[in-house]
Amino acid sequence: MDFNRCSYSSLLVVILGFVFPAMMVSAIGINYGQIANNLPSPEDVVPLVRSIGATKLKLYDADARVLKSFANTGVEFIVCIGNQDLGMMRDAAKALAWVKTNVEAYLPATNITSITVGNEVLTLNDTPLSNNLLTAMISVHAALVSLNLDKKVSVTTAHALSVLETSYPPSAGAFRRDLRGYMTQILDFHVKTGSPFLINAYPYFAYKANPKKIPIDFVLFQPNSGIVDPVSNLHYDNMLFGQIDAVHSALASLGYKKVAVQISETGWPSKGDEDEVGATPENANKYIGNLMKLIAQRKGTPLRPNHDLNVYVFALFNENLKPGPTSERNYGLFKPDGTLAYPLRHTGNNVVHSNSSTSAPAPVPLETNSTSPGYLPASSTPGRFHVSRSGFFLCQNLMGLMTLLI
Ligand SMILES: *[C@@H]1O[C@H](CO)[C@@H](O)[C@H](O)[C@H]1NC(C)=O
Ligand SMILES: *[C@@H]1O[C@H](CO)[C@@H](O)[C@H](O)[C@H]1NC(C)=O
Ligand SMILES: *[C@@H]1O[C@H](CO)[C@@H](O)[C@H](O)[C@H]1NC(C)=O
Repeated sequence: MDFNRCSYSSLLVVILGFVFPAMMVSAIGINYGQIANNLPSPEDVVPLVRSIGATKLKLYDADARVLKSFANTGVEFIVCIGNQDLGMMRDAAKALAWVKTNVEAYLPATNITSITVGNEVLTLNDTPLSNNLLTAMISVHAALVSLNLDKKVSVTTAHALSVLETSYPPSAGAFRRDLRGYMTQILDFHVKTGSPFLINAYPYFAYKANPKKIPIDFVLFQPNSGIVDPVSNLHYDNMLFGQIDAVHSALASLGYKKVAVQISETGWPSKGDEDEVGATPENANKYIGNLMKLIAQRKGTPLRPNHDLNVYVFALFNENLKPGPTSERNYGLFKPDGTLAYPLRHTGNNVVHSNSSTSAPAPVPLETNSTSPGYLPASSTPGRFHVSRSGFFLCQNLMGLMTLLI
């Protein structure tokens, strides 16, 4: 048996909660957020992570207890420098001190492979913070170079999908005009240092903002007829792939076709307020279960069929201290007591290449102007959270585009 590619049945067993070697499932990442006062201690989290076969964790900080607990487990880590520390990182000495304390100190026992400098900085509409981003990334990278760690640890930042101003059809993906200046500089940095472009992508936000127009099956990777991109002629049977390819198109349009893309966050809440349509355990189970299946099958997107998805699911735990609507506190795969938040198993549908179907999705933008439910520490205002959820949609040319849908 090829342990890198796991069969459907073995994945089922893993997901049902038995402890299996992490290598059974290829490269599933999970975001380990800790905005809560009731989470298990990091030592007790190690077996939970193993039980679902995750091989990569992404933190929103560089929590010492977590990094120590996962020493010699083979789990790969992305650590994060919070938005509130970007200003400080411009100072080369401070960046070096941070990297020594929070990265070098744990290597090689804990396999830290990347540092994200800030989270969703460019969409917080905080110009001083945006202006600090690239300088902080360069400074952190220079610290790694001086410690001879730059080949092992990459430097990047995670963006909200709302860095896009166009996302439909995916071939028309384009970055917001006002962000293109920042983007090209950051992308030059990615090219020079060989680091990936990270995007947080939530089909849930698009669905929640427009549940009448977007078929639930299209966002949950369930069988549906999908859409055909009229320019590329590529067929999309799920929204996440459309979102990812819109990012690829946006990168290509600026001349950065070769920069690798990773999905630093995606997820589905198992519970929400009354007006949060679709936030149920059944839907979360379908979204995550089907996504894990695609990852295990090593499915790429229509535009990049031969590339692994490289996804970090949001999130490991329900986080009870997160502000905002109920959904914010219910993205977890696990409850704080270590039991699964929902059964988390495949729904048994043949997701890929299905043609049996429900209605076709409306041609709405795949991005929203929402921030992600990840930990978004203050930018210029320490201790504040950004939780705006003002996703709205422009359904232009609806009739014209409807004729292009299959
Ligand atoms: C750390 O992770 C990288 C990337 O997956 C891998 O190539 C490397 O072998 C790992 N190192 C250790 C010590 O496990
Ligand atoms: C769906 O696909 C199957 C197998 O490829 C084919 O036999 C069937 O005719 C298709 N159905 C529709 C509605 O296109
Ligand atoms: C997001 O915000 C930008 C800038 O304010 C705006 O141009 C764009 O139309 C918005 N997109 C959506 C989907 O609301």
